[in-house]
Amino acid sequence: MKKAQLLAAAILAAAMFSVQANGSSRPGWLNDAVFYQIYPSSFQDSDGNGIGDIPGIISRLDYIRSLGVTAIWINPIYVSGWTDGGYDVIDFYRVDPRFGTNTDLVTLTKEAHERGIKVVLDLVAGHSSDKCEWFLQSREAENLRYSDYYIWPSFKPEDDSEGKVLDYAAMVSSKAGLLRKFVPTDAPRGPYYIKNFFDTQPALNFGFADPDPAHPWEQAVDDPGPMAMRRELKNIMAFWMDKGVDGFRVDMASSLVKNDPDKAATIALWNEDLSVWFNLEYPEGVLIAEWFNPEEATRAGFDLDFFCHEGTYNYSTLFFNTDRMSGKPKDCYFSLEGKGELRTWYDLYMKQYSAVKGEGYVCMPSGNHDFTRLAAGDRTSEDQLKIAMSFFLTMPGVPFIYYGDEIGLKNISGLPSVEGAGNRTGTRIPMLWDSTENAGFSTAPKDRLYIPQDPDPGRRTVESQEKNETSLLNYVRALLTLRRNHPALGNNGDWKLLSDPDKPYPMIYEREYEGEKCLVVLNPTSKTVNAPFPYYKSEDLSVIGGSYNSCTIKKIRRVDTMFISPVSVVIYKVK
Ligand code: GLC
Repeated sequence: MKKAQLLAAAILAAAMFSVQANGSSRPGWLNDAVFYQIYPSSFQDSDGNGIGDIPGIISRLDYIRSLGVTAIWINPIYVSGWTDGGYDVIDFYRVDPRFGTNTDLVTLTKEAHERGIKVVLDLVAGHSSDKCEWFLQSREAENLRYSDYYIWPSFKPEDDSEGKVLDYAAMVSSKAGLLRKFVPTDAPRGPYYIKNFFDTQPALNFGFADPDPAHPWEQAVDDPGPMAMRRELKNIMAFWMDKGVDGFRVDMASSLVKNDPDKAATIALWNEDLSVWFNLEYPEGVLIAEWFNPEEATRAGFDLDFFCHEGTYNYSTLFFNTDRMSGKPKDCYFSLEGKGELRTWYDLYMKQYSAVKGEGYVCMPSGNHDFTRLAAGDRTSEDQLKIAMSFFLTMPGVPFIYYGDEIGLKNISGLPSVEGAGNRTGTRIPMLWDSTENAGFSTAPKDRLYIPQDPDPGRRTVESQEKNETSLLNYVRALLTLRRNHPALGNNGDWKLLSDPDKPYPMIYEREYEGEKCLVVLNPTSKTVNAPFPYYKSEDLSVIGGSYNSCTIKKIRRVDTMFISPVSVVIYKVK
C-alpha cells in the first residue's frame, strides 16, 4: 500500500515537473529543426497507379536531405474512406494499401533516420470515418464495446444563429458551431450524431466542457466513454511511436472537448493528460498542433503550432492574393502592386510570439494542403517567390516548407474536386521532378494521375532547377544553410520589427541570438521603396544573403534612410 502511494506520488511529481518545465522539456532537436510537408498521394508514385506512396517517398529521401531540412511531416497515411484526403480514417493502426504497408512505414523511418531526418505523422485525433468499425458498432442500439466513442444527441436543440457566418474558432468551439454539426441519421442508435467536418467524419467522444443535464448525450470529460476514448488515442500514438516515428501533427487539436468556448477543458485534456503522458513516455517525441492559436496550443503542452490561414488569426493578409472561394485576385502584402498592409498581421503575430517565446514555437508554413499555394495569381516569378521564401526562412519558430514550394510549384485553380479536396485540389497537385513522362511523378497514363499536373511546357521541375545556379531551389538551399550557420536567424533567435508597421514597405526586422545580430530588409513590390533607418551605418552591416539589385542607406533631409530596389531582399549580419 505504502509502495503504491509512493509510486503514485512519484508519477504525479514527474507529471507536474513536465507541465511546469513545458518549455525546457521540449525535444532538443526542435532547436534547429526545419520541416518539409509531404502530401503522400502527390509526391512520388512507385507502382504506376497514378498515386504517390511510401516507397516513392523513400526513393526521394536523398533529395529531401539535399534541401537541408531535418524532418518530414506526412499527411494521413492510414486506411481511409477517402472522402477528405485521408482525414476520414477507417483503421488508425494500419497504413492504407495504396501507400504500402506498416512495414514500409518502418522502413521509411529507418531510412530517414539514417539521413538525419525525423518522421512526423498526422494524428487525426478528433474524428474517424463513418466506415470505421468503432462507428459501425456505435450506431447500434445495443451497448457494445465502442458505443460511447461517438456522440448521439436524442434531439436537436434550437439554433438561433442559423445563417450567421462563423469563423474557425466558433466552428470548433461554440454551441452554435456544434449545432451545425448535428447529422440526421437512420442509425438504430439515431436520430443524430455529431460530426467534425464532413458528414463522413463523426466526432469522437472526448466529452463536454459543461454537460447540460437536459442533453443526456453530453458526457463529462472524465466519464467512462471519454476516458476510454483517451486511452484509445494514447494507444494509437504509442503504436506508431513504438514503430520509430518521431511525433505527430495533431489534426484539429483544439476541437476535442465540445462546448468549450474558452478552450479551458480542451487545454486541460491535453496538458493534464495527453501531452504529459506523451512527454513522459517519449521525451524526444514532438507534438505539433493544428490549433491556429499558438498561445493556447502551448498551454495545452504542444511544442509548436501553426500561424497561417484560419479564421480571424494568422497570416492571410500577407499571402492570400486569391480569394479562396471565387479564385478572384485579392490585395495582400507579398504582391507586386504594393497595396498590402502589415498592421493586421503584425499585431496578431506579436501577440502570439510574445505569449509563447521560450515555451513553444509560432510556425508560419510556406503553404499547406488546405489553402492556395504561394505560387498563385500574379505571384509566380522566381524573384517574387525568393522574397517570400526569404521571409519564411528568416523568421523565428520552426520553418515548414510545403512540398514543391522550393521549386515554385504553381497552384492550379478550377480543377474538379478530388477526394473531398474541393477548392484545395489545386494546392495538392503532383510534384514535378523532371522532363520524363508525367514529370517523373508516375508512369501511369496521364488521365490516371491523382490530380492533373500543370500542363505549361515551361513548368519548373526539380531537374531544371538543379541545373540553374540561381534557381529558386538553389536559393532555398542557400537560405537554409544561412539559417543553420547563423543562430540569430534560427528557430530561437529574437525577432523585432524595426520598420513602422503602418508604413508597410519595406519590411525591416532584426534577429538576435546570444550576441549575434542579423537584419532582413524585404521589398516584394515592383517599386523602389524606402524607410527611415537610424539604427546602423552602412559600415556596420555586411551582406550575407538575399536577392536584389541595390540596397543603400542615404541621408534624406538629415535622416538616414534605407532604399531597396523592386522585388528585393537583403540579409545582413551586423558587425
Ligand atoms: C484539418 C486538415 C484538413 C481536413 C480537416 C478535417 O484541418 O488539415 O485537410 O479536411 O482537418 O479533418
